[in-house]
Amino acid sequence: MPLTAQQFEGLRAFVLERSAIVLEPGKEYLVESRLAPLAREFGYASLGDLLLQLGPRANHELCRRVVEAMTTNETSFFRDAHPFEALRTHILPELVGRRRHRRRLDIWCAASSTGQEPYSLAITLLEHVPEAARWQLRIVATDLAEDILARAREGRYSQHDVNRGMPPALLGKYFQREGDGYRVRPEVKRLVEFRQMNLAQPWVGLPPMDLVFLRNVLIYFSVATKKRILENVRSVLAEDGYLCLGAAETTLGVCDAFQRCPIGKAVLYRPVAQPVA
Ligand SMILES: C[S@@+](CC[C@H](N)C(=O)[O-])C[C@H]1O[C@@H](n2cnc3c(N)ncnc32)[C@H](O)[C@@H]1O
Repeated sequence: MPLTAQQFEGLRAFVLERSAIVLEPGKEYLVESRLAPLAREFGYASLGDLLLQLGPRANHELCRRVVEAMTTNETSFFRDAHPFEALRTHILPELVGRRRHRRRLDIWCAASSTGQEPYSLAITLLEHVPEAARWQLRIVATDLAEDILARAREGRYSQHDVNRGMPPALLGKYFQREGDGYRVRPEVKRLVEFRQMNLAQPWVGLPPMDLVFLRNVLIYFSVATKKRILENVRSVLAEDGYLCLGAAETTLGVCDAFQRCPIGKAVLYRPVAQPVA
């Protein structure tokens, strides 16, 4: 049975509160197709029965699964190519030069989904930071969704996954065959630490970052949430660091703590210098 307007509104409020994801009116079909299998798995006769359970004393696991089912996890290796080109040609040489005394780079891949993005970053570091073995290179990869993070930590990918963006030479160098798929090699995995983290809730335990990849997640949030998250990013990003957003995302008109910084065909963002007091 199709969702009633009241049921949709209740779910919309529930998902917004727990993830900041805005379910626009008209997304009823999406809700039904993603939650109907969950209703069956949890033994409810209908989606309506499942939604009735999402009250204050709801089962934690059910709530988590409902929210995670409403996330979109689309990703691929070296997605959109240009930011990775900018990393190779400009950002890494510059940051490595500036951090040569500290010999440490901290990168945050927020909303890392099933891992293709942080592993692409790790491979880029191994390929283009010749000092890699003697430096402390760390990529903190975070996502809201526990199930998705578990897959990312495993680092196993199908032929279809690697066909989407992984160049054959890098596939041969940084993956090992496993059954009919591939597994990321330990030297790549070692650079990435996966953590569960909700961008819409207070952030704890993040070190200062030199580079933040926050791609293709702000699109799901309200302008007020985007602004709050971007202001928080500003507070963890080094003064001379870089922020990379998705191709359809911008700080312009949302948060004036960043300025646009085109590099080749990519657009990155840098903190606006603080006025001297
Ligand atoms: C479309 S994927 C983007 C993946 C990757 N950044 C890329 O560009 O290929 C969006 C990811 O954002 C995550 N997400 C959604 N809401 C979130 C939140 N409030 N906090 C953290 N992650 C969230 C989802 O679980 C999903 O994995």
